[in-house]
Amino acid sequence: MNADVRNRLNQTPEWTALAKHREELGEVRLRDLFAADPGRGTGYTLQVGDLYIDYSKHLVTDETLRLLRELAAATDVFGLRDAMFRGEKINTTEDRAVLHTALRAPRDAVVEVDGENVVPQVHAVLDKMSDFAERVRSGAWTGHTGKRIKNVVNIGIGGSDLGPAMAYEVLRSFTDRDLTVRFVSNVDGADLHEATRDLDAAETLFVIASKTFTTIETITNATSAREWLLGELKAGQEAVAQHFVALSTNAGKVSDFGIDTANMFGFWDWVGGRYSYDSAIGLALMIAIGPDRFREMLDGFRLVDEHFRSAPAESNVPLLLGLLGVWYGNFHDAQSHAVLPYSHYLSKFTAYLQQLDMESNGKSVGRDGQEVDWQTGPVVWGTPGTNGQHAYYQLIHQGTKLIPADFIGFAEPVAELGDGLRAQHDLLMANFFAQTQALAFGKTPDEVRAEGVPEELVAHKTFKGDHPTTTILARELTPSVLGQLVALYEHKVFVQGAVWNIDSFDQWGVELGKVLAKRVEPALTETFTSAAAAAGSVAGLDESSKALVA
Ligand code: F6P
Repeated sequence: MNADVRNRLNQTPEWTALAKHREELGEVRLRDLFAADPGRGTGYTLQVGDLYIDYSKHLVTDETLRLLRELAAATDVFGLRDAMFRGEKINTTEDRAVLHTALRAPRDAVVEVDGENVVPQVHAVLDKMSDFAERVRSGAWTGHTGKRIKNVVNIGIGGSDLGPAMAYEVLRSFTDRDLTVRFVSNVDGADLHEATRDLDAAETLFVIASKTFTTIETITNATSAREWLLGELKAGQEAVAQHFVALSTNAGKVSDFGIDTANMFGFWDWVGGRYSYDSAIGLALMIAIGPDRFREMLDGFRLVDEHFRSAPAESNVPLLLGLLGVWYGNFHDAQSHAVLPYSHYLSKFTAYLQQLDMESNGKSVGRDGQEVDWQTGPVVWGTPGTNGQHAYYQLIHQGTKLIPADFIGFAEPVAELGDGLRAQHDLLMANFFAQTQALAFGKTPDEVRAEGVPEELVAHKTFKGDHPTTTILARELTPSVLGQLVALYEHKVFVQGAVWNIDSFDQWGVELGKVLAKRVEPALTETFTSAAAAAGSVAGLDESSKALVA
């Protein structure tokens, strides 16, 4: 299908067929769907790697799924997928290839960008990272005064923070517990202060993570960290080499900052920030968990990459999850999507997905430069499940909004927990299973009455049900399973961007705020000799902002 036709997505026969089908289905009840098909609970499931996916509690029939797959075929999702894997420049507004999948390609794979195989470079950086990580972990790499490194502070923001910070939390039970690993992102100096105030500078390594090495928050924090370090050590610039390393694509800026480019770990413009934590951006994580576990995580990513690349549409999990999102966003007017992990270790997982999904698909202009007139990416939100149950689940159960949700859980607790704490896992999982059941099937007025509830409370205690959920279940949380989960969401986001005909790999929407912040800053930091001079400095601002700055 050519770009012109794709941009009239909502006039295609496939879209119209889905709209008609939605009308015909009406208020479909999950109770009815399960009653009509006793095999639904096992039939509407898929397996990819270690992930068991149950999509039976969705407001869909075989026909819905067939029509959604037809939409995917009409919008050539698999064609774009193949172009991505081949290294074509599918990020058209930045004229870049999109090759995070090459970051986990095996050593002998060939993936070409502009005629050059990028896989050897990927493995050269991985090897250099592994060597460095081992030196830090073993104590062979020391600080300026000769002390062993005990603290690692990653300074970065967005994709240069969220990925490694999330993965560090997820894999905490696999980390070297003698190392303190912290992540600083906010330009609010309080973030750096709290991360460093109890550390011995002589034992601290700063990992400055910035693809561009121009991001104001990161460079400001890195500069302050350098001042703190040199002040604490009472040392000159020569101390920087042992305490600062850089993760970047911009060697010039790294060297301008004063970091030896021998201590720089590179990546490439074909790795988007939000797709980068399995590149050099994962160095702090690799130091924490060790190179072997980092590679296990990459294997997990690769497993799902291969599945996405080769599984037929009927059993392709990222395709399915992407299309279910299209179904709710475009045919049920759902505005948001909740991701609810039942694992404390996944506490930052949804925050990570917010960037992955919302920075990728929060677009309203199509790949052809035309405004789209259909809904694109949803608001993604959520926190670990049991905490959410006592906060916002009320709205999901009995509010007026349709909120599709992913429930992520694990059959076993992490190995490190002692017996008493392991037993709590059953309670956690009892909640996990109970919630999706309640959301799907609710409680009818008759069931409420049968419990002896007085008539005036029956409506209040009735649960309508039919709140759609996907259950993603794995036996245990391992580095590989984390890689599988992240790749699953990466490709789900890809599928949706392909259907909506948007460029999921640029992020022009974050630029304007950055430019305006630069314009406001002098008005806040300069000392003015006269009121007129002060007024002049805010002259370019709108009336409201001028008053606020004053
Ligand atoms: O928020 C915009 C953004 O460009 C993200 O996409 C990126 O992850 C983040 O800024 C950080 O950028 P950098 O790694 O270049 O510092």
